[in-house]
Amino acid sequence: MAYIDEATINAIRRKHPIKEIVERYVSLTKKGDDYWGLCPFHADNNASMSVSTRLDMFQCFACKKAGNVFNFVAGMENISYGDAIRLLAREDGFEVGNTSNYVNPHIKDYEVMNLAIKYYQNNINSILGDNAIKYLLARDIDRETIQKFEIGLSISKQPLTPFLLNKYDLNQLIDLGLTNTDSKDIFTDRIMIPIHDLNGNPIGFGGRIYQTRDDSKYINTKATKIFDKSNILYNYHRAHTKLVKDETIIIMEGYFDVIRASTIGVNNCVAPMGTSLTKNHIQILKKITNKVILCFDGDDAGKMATIRAIPLFENSGIEVKVIRLEEKDPDEFIIKRGKDAFLDKINNPINVIEFKMQLLSEEKNLNDTKEASLYMDEMIKELTKESDDILIELTLKRLATKFQVEYDTLKARFNQYKNNQKNKMTNKTIEAKNIKKIPNKYGQATDNLLYYMIVSGEVVTVAETNVSMIMDNKKRRLFNEIIYYYHKYGELVIADFITYLTMKTDVADTFESIINNNLKLEYTWEEIDDYIKCVNEYYKKNIIDKLKLDLSREPDPMKQANILKEIMKIRGVKTSD
Ligand code: GTP
Ligand code: MN
Repeated sequence: MAYIDEATINAIRRKHPIKEIVERYVSLTKKGDDYWGLCPFHADNNASMSVSTRLDMFQCFACKKAGNVFNFVAGMENISYGDAIRLLAREDGFEVGNTSNYVNPHIKDYEVMNLAIKYYQNNINSILGDNAIKYLLARDIDRETIQKFEIGLSISKQPLTPFLLNKYDLNQLIDLGLTNTDSKDIFTDRIMIPIHDLNGNPIGFGGRIYQTRDDSKYINTKATKIFDKSNILYNYHRAHTKLVKDETIIIMEGYFDVIRASTIGVNNCVAPMGTSLTKNHIQILKKITNKVILCFDGDDAGKMATIRAIPLFENSGIEVKVIRLEEKDPDEFIIKRGKDAFLDKINNPINVIEFKMQLLSEEKNLNDTKEASLYMDEMIKELTKESDDILIELTLKRLATKFQVEYDTLKARFNQYKNNQKNKMTNKTIEAKNIKKIPNKYGQATDNLLYYMIVSGEVVTVAETNVSMIMDNKKRRLFNEIIYYYHKYGELVIADFITYLTMKTDVADTFESIINNNLKLEYTWEEIDDYIKCVNEYYKKNIIDKLKLDLSREPDPMKQANILKEIMKIRGVKTSD
């Protein structure tokens, strides 16, 4: 991301005062020096977001989101920080993408991949592509869809590599996963499905066999510098641009499921690259939606994948629903049962509790009293994980009716489990508090010190000479970055410093939480002195603890004496030498 230089970014930022940009989305009222409005990043009823024209920053006192104009636009538009810069730059007529400052490091790689897509498309449209087209048509994939998904064909008799070697280095083709070290194509005689990254850059292929037999039905591009399976979802870039804010994303298993769905006008589908869903995928999805539907294959593997995926979404803020299909996969379901049957499925997905209810009942003979009672017990336990009161109530009522048990009995059991959970939780929080108590004081002192360093150059100078060591890794890095930045520019404009941290370091989040401490701008040297002492004490304590441990493990009395001397030195006790 370091390809737009900082001075340009800062100039772009100054051309877009934060108040004007925020007001495009939120109405603001002046109170004191700042402007206030409803925070768009959480459900806000209290105008918790303040916008400071002096600092050119926004900050929400409820959800703690804070930043400069680029952070704001990135959050509102669900785009990256870099894209927010480009978006605002474009409004000034600056085409950042075309200035000499902006060179995407992978642009040449995308160029090669694009050419490969075109080449494979030409192949499929040549005479040698007839069988592949027939195969696709037989699968009910029409020409328009082939075009839309840029589906092509690799042909051993019309290899890609010699064509690309006219213009590019062999090494580059090998690096991109297109060519073997012996200059032969990786993909031969496969239907080629191009894969794009989240921004729509072409980065790889899925290659499917269509007339030959082969152990692997698909070959996907190996991991390359631009192709990282765990960080992409097939069709994300298309689904994302069409998505109305907060519309549902449907997650399927295979390329052809996603492609088939689009033939009936369902364009909001994505698929992981033949891997199971990971936390990474959840993070990616979270940027564009708060609702997903899991629509995996109808078989047991699909059921297992659904079971595994559900906990990943719990606590993510994404609502997850489930579709179970009576056919092998969405592709076959749509072919066999038609568009309306599928639309009916996606318009009526079942919630997680319903899914678990079905699942648990499948394993049991519910006519057997004992198994039925076990089933109810398991369901009640599952219900304690649910946060929707109405859903809990309704489910308990359904269970009561179904098994002719008193609702109150079930509710009592539910409350009992819930209380047990609460007790466990409070024990845990008490424990956690006790563990955290001591470092907290030092942690707070570090945060306060860092905060005043950000606010004042004088504090930077004093801290630089007097702080011995900050124990927390990220905070230490932030400490060093502040000093570095201050020395380089002679001043620290917070709104510009954010850009620097976001583009060049991994401590932007640490910074955000520190400026969110909501401290005042004035300070006394006494306070600063206290913070520094506190930070140094903590360091000393840590070093001494470590030395004490060494001491307890040291068998040699001479060495023991040396360690002891060192401890005393750190404690500030004078020794004989
Ligand atoms: P069709 O059989 O053409 O309908 O394929 P599909 O898209 O329905 O795929 P399927 O459900 O069989 O598999 C799901 C996904 O797993 C595919 O889209 C691929 O990403 C991946 N996959 C399937 N088979 C293979 C394989 O043999 N090798 C690799 N590397 N990936 C595979
Ligand atoms: Mn399939």
